[in-house]
Amino acid sequence: MRARPDGFAGRSFWIVGASSGIGAALAREFSRRGAEVAISARRVDDLLDVARDEMAVVPCDVTDRTAVLAAAGEVGASVGGPDVVVWSAGYWDRFDAAAWDADAFARHVEVNLLGLNNLLAAVLPGMVRARGGHLVAIASVAGYRGLAGAEAYGATKAAQLNLLEGLRAALRRYGVRVTTVSPGFVRTPMTRDNDFPMPFIVEPEEAALAIVEGLRRRRTEIVFPLPMAILMKTARVLPVRAWAALSGRAAGRGAR
Ligand SMILES: NC(=O)c1ccc[n+]([C@@H]2O[C@H](COP(=O)([O-])OP(=O)(O)OC[C@H]3O[C@@H](n4cnc5c(N)ncnc54)[C@H](OP(=O)(O)O)[C@@H]3O)[C@@H](O)[C@H]2O)c1
Repeated sequence: MRARPDGFAGRSFWIVGASSGIGAALAREFSRRGAEVAISARRVDDLLDVARDEMAVVPCDVTDRTAVLAAAGEVGASVGGPDVVVWSAGYWDRFDAAAWDADAFARHVEVNLLGLNNLLAAVLPGMVRARGGHLVAIASVAGYRGLAGAEAYGATKAAQLNLLEGLRAALRRYGVRVTTVSPGFVRTPMTRDNDFPMPFIVEPEEAALAIVEGLRRRRTEIVFPLPMAILMKTARVLPVRAWAALSGRAAGRGAR
């Protein structure tokens, strides 16, 4: 039996980056609540596992602009709208600034930033024309401050935060909503190989519930879990010098 009513039932959702992790958990949660859900990513078998015949599966690579545009058309034809587009695709790899790898840096930009650009190009014109729609994008608290080892990932996350803030202001007059989601650590394939402490880590299902609850409350920004939100919001307002001393000491401890 599908649960109702909480504002999700009957609405159409397109979740991009839903073959695993937070996107997969979110897709299941929206579907359980009666939403019409379409999911995208590259790994087709994983998408089919997540969908369990209850969602539309529309594979695509976000770095391929033509494919993303075609996928948007397919999603509209299969679930309608979509009323809500969720960006949950992402790429992370620990970065070694002392051995600068331009390809590794570029890969983060291609997926996290240019991929989002491709999605926006595919969905925003329709939302603006329809004078409605909702973009929900998963950024990260890693975009709040520079962190050693996360120069590439963090730079794309900071860019996403800035981009979403600008978009929100620009699209308001067209009735298009923009919600920024900034998780702390979540136990997903993305964090599986991390060999450093991940304080306050949560399961993807908890992350999905935090996002759903934030959306239900029409939050502009959803940051979780609470201890990480407090920690990183505090870090965000620390003077540059203090942050440099703190983060430099932490990086020194992590050095091999
Ligand atoms: N886990 C954390 O601690 C954490 C914390 C803060 C923010 N986030 C953010 O949360 C989002 C979801 O990450 P996650 O933790 O759930 O990791 P995940 O399980 O690795 O999920 C990442 C998703 O992105 C998709 N993806 C990657 N490259 C893609 C491409 N080129 N084209 C299409 N899809 C692509 C992956 O699918 P395919 O491989 O099948 O393409 C997968 O579905 C990301 O934006 C991440 O940066 C995660």
